[in-house]
Amino acid sequence: MSDLGERLTQLQADAHARLAAASDVAAVESLRAALLGRSGELTSLLRRLGSVTADERPSVGQLANSVRDDLEHAIAGRLHSLRTDADATRLASETVDVSAPGRPVRVGHLHPSFTVERDLREIFHGFGFEVFEGPEIETEEMNFEALNIPPDHPSRDLWDTLYVAEPGSAPPRPAADGTILRTHTSPVQVRAMRALRPPIRVITPGRCFRYEAVDASHNFEFFQVEGLVVDRDTSFADLKGMLEEFARALYGEATRTRFRPGYYPFTEPSAAFDVGCLVCGGPGCPACGRTGWMTILGAGMVHPTVLRAGGIDPDQFQGYAFGMGLDRITLLRHGIPDLRLLMGGDLRFLSQFAGGR
Ligand code: PHE
Repeated sequence: MSDLGERLTQLQADAHARLAAASDVAAVESLRAALLGRSGELTSLLRRLGSVTADERPSVGQLANSVRDDLEHAIAGRLHSLRTDADATRLASETVDVSAPGRPVRVGHLHPSFTVERDLREIFHGFGFEVFEGPEIETEEMNFEALNIPPDHPSRDLWDTLYVAEPGSAPPRPAADGTILRTHTSPVQVRAMRALRPPIRVITPGRCFRYEAVDASHNFEFFQVEGLVVDRDTSFADLKGMLEEFARALYGEATRTRFRPGYYPFTEPSAAFDVGCLVCGGPGCPACGRTGWMTILGAGMVHPTVLRAGGIDPDQFQGYAFGMGLDRITLLRHGIPDLRLLMGGDLRFLSQFAGGR
């Protein structure tokens, strides 16, 4: 056999040994380039076919072709099995155990106070009210003067109101621009009148602050929902009908209600609105001070001074307003004995209300 024939056979044996030693896809790929690539070992041998004598050429040519086919075949086979092994290893490591129990997903839930607020929003939404929110940090002017509470009125006393201190003042003194934490949601009445045109039908839920000695039924931070309606020919009868419907929507059709005369500087006339005691249902118990009634809100016809502060002509429009504390509703709904629990952020307490009511 010619010299070239021997070298081909030699290369073939050699290539098989190197192929067997190549342990991953990358090694086989580079072996393929080294043998069969443009300047690979086999390729350069084949270039020398031209120098073989004419009688030897057919047999050497045939040998050369069979060596090339054999190596291409062997390389393809090795690549295939390496890839299959790699796939199998990956599959084995990525197996999903579909029978394993799921990992629990922690789902949050509404705070009981916000569940009540949401219910109130829904009830008033049904009565055609929209939500209008105002700032928790107010001016004395909006919290008091615009609501017909002159500077010498008792509710402006330092004992009720949390004043924001003048920056840098020591000892702290009230800010010169009269910045305070709002003591009720009523200033939002005036903001709503200034922002909207009659007919106005809004509720204004939100957080309020008062300088209180904290105990089981008083907190310095609490929630109110204010309501305001301004239109032509709005009367006290509309106010009464609306609130009676509201009480029935919140506490059931059988709820008994009553109005008592009340006083607020920003409504005239004013009323307190009571429902039959939600604990004893009437005969009287400690929760209702043995009266059989619970006051749930204050209300009245919007005072002309307040309409004017809101830019509305009292000769053309009338309105009514009401304001209720939300925390009391929450305590009664769940039989919670202490107001402080609501603001405590204790998850052992709060997670009891995961059901949403
Ligand atoms: N702002 C009053 C309060 O905080 C409640 C109220 C609102 C009364 C609107 C009448 C009209 O007690």
